[in-house]
Amino acid sequence: SATPTPEPRGLDFTAVAPNTEDAVVVPEGYEQAVVIRWGDPVVEGAPAFDFDNQTSAAQEKQFGFNNDFAGLLPIDGSSTEYLLVVNHEYTTEPFLFTGYDAENPTAEQVAIGLAAHGLSVVQVAGENGSGKLTPQMGRYNRRITGSTEFVLTGPAAGSDFLKTSADPTGTKVFGTFNNCSGGVTPWGTVLSGEENINQYFANAESVTDPVVAERLARYGVEGAASERKWERFDKRFDLAQEPNEVNRFGWVVEVNPWDPTAAPIKHTALGRFKHEAATIHVTDDGTVVAYSGDDERFDYMYKFVSSRKMMQGTGAAALRSNVTLLDAGTLYVAKLSGDAPDQIDGSGKLPTTGQFAGKGEWIPLLRTGEDGRGESLVDGMSAEEVAVFTRLAGDKVGATKMDRPEDFEPNPVTGKVYVALTNNSNRGTEGKAAADEANPRDKNKNGQVLELDDDHAGTSFTWNLLLVCGDPAAADTYFGGFDKSQVSPISCPDNLAFDADGNLWVSTDGNALDSNDGLFSVVLDGDRRGQTKQFLTVPKGAETCGPIVQEQRVVVSVQHPGEEDDASADAPASHWPDGGDSQPRPSVVAVWKV
Ligand code: FEO
Ligand code: CA
Ligand code: CA
Ligand code: CA
Repeated sequence: SATPTPEPRGLDFTAVAPNTEDAVVVPEGYEQAVVIRWGDPVVEGAPAFDFDNQTSAAQEKQFGFNNDFAGLLPIDGSSTEYLLVVNHEYTTEPFLFTGYDAENPTAEQVAIGLAAHGLSVVQVAGENGSGKLTPQMGRYNRRITGSTEFVLTGPAAGSDFLKTSADPTGTKVFGTFNNCSGGVTPWGTVLSGEENINQYFANAESVTDPVVAERLARYGVEGAASERKWERFDKRFDLAQEPNEVNRFGWVVEVNPWDPTAAPIKHTALGRFKHEAATIHVTDDGTVVAYSGDDERFDYMYKFVSSRKMMQGTGAAALRSNVTLLDAGTLYVAKLSGDAPDQIDGSGKLPTTGQFAGKGEWIPLLRTGEDGRGESLVDGMSAEEVAVFTRLAGDKVGATKMDRPEDFEPNPVTGKVYVALTNNSNRGTEGKAAADEANPRDKNKNGQVLELDDDHAGTSFTWNLLLVCGDPAAADTYFGGFDKSQVSPISCPDNLAFDADGNLWVSTDGNALDSNDGLFSVVLDGDRRGQTKQFLTVPKGAETCGPIVQEQRVVVSVQHPGEEDDASADAPASHWPDGGDSQPRPSVVAVWKV
């Protein structure tokens, strides 16, 4: 075959080989530095981090735990200063405290856990000649935690499903949990997905109403005590006392980082499920499309199409208008069909058509009017039920059960939309959905990346699998048709990002190929389509997330370093980033070409 064209700009690095080092490993000729770590000061008065003497008062002012999504928003009028906005997905208490007694957490440990959740807004400064970013005590710096006041908007705001004894109006929520990935909006705010919110709520098994019990079960809320046992200290986490508190989580959150006093918003028009994130595409007429995956085995892909148009600019008036964009419009769920359904046997073998591909339709579930009132488009469910129990609406309309939809993101250059389907150990097992063309492998360990050509504001799309991940030497993998002897092994795609040229970058979580997780570039067009190269790996036990790929730098979140079986703060499996015999600390890292 002919010699391929030169590698695209910025992708001519030497791939990092798979490894299990306790380090961030970058290509030759690149430099790296930690931007900010768990416990570093964020707001005025924050003390220096002291692992052995951590307090909730300190944690409320410091960078939280388990950084996931990262957004970098340029500060007006400056080419070197940004707001870094980061999600803190969850806490793993045995890694926060030495001698942690999981059966008997203390009130202070619970308060530290609440304060280590949420988001951080931190001003960072770049410098000439490098990609280094240094945190500053800027005027926008802010910590949002498990106790910060949020407002609910959209058709479920004020619904009986959202009322609690602390909030009889059903319009105000304290806190946000399990903020996984997210997106920066064109109007200068940040969206964040509340993902695995089931794990915070106790005593689902005491619920006797079969309708309520079915809803809880569909959202994975089960059992008696929760793992963190917050319910012992705050009754809102006890379903026996506050049955509706759980309904106040599982939303897309919008934070205006330019106003540290503004209450963040939970947008109920986008439905409630395990939102991995929400990311935006704007059509030529200013219609806003928000894509969001529900990260659960056999769950669905959604989009929301606004009825309002985006106001241009990022001034105060535009911002005030644009933060209402996600409160009026239509929520859809995806249904896919394949071109060669008879040839899919769960083995991952390509059909004779040469690729896994097909068509899809967006099935409308819920229309929210300009007045904020919802209209159900699903037989047998009210608008409030569709908004709050969206998974059940997806079930009713026969949406396609996917292999854990994670990041779901439009390419800003081409408009094509990509979904990371991370894995699904239960695909094709007894009583579960069989493999189909978009999810072509039984007991899928390594995941796949889906490419959609979407009629953004419309209801139809075509799709194909760009990558069927795993060991390139294995027969059940596919790399966009590219020569598999020339690609890096990739497993469990989680987060997606695009560089300014529209190349795809994929970060991984849970690599099933005996190497640490990492960040990969993927060529999308031309004769190198499908060429996948590992740009970096993260330390042992960590996942790679929040990638930002700019001309000057690559930024990644290194989440849960050292989180391996049998490890804990008493027996750390990693000493990254501080080295020596230090405790591992989730951190954000910048990498740049020397
Ligand atoms: Fe928090 Fe879907 O990863
Ligand atoms: Ca994720
Ligand atoms: Ca992303
Ligand atoms: Ca994940």
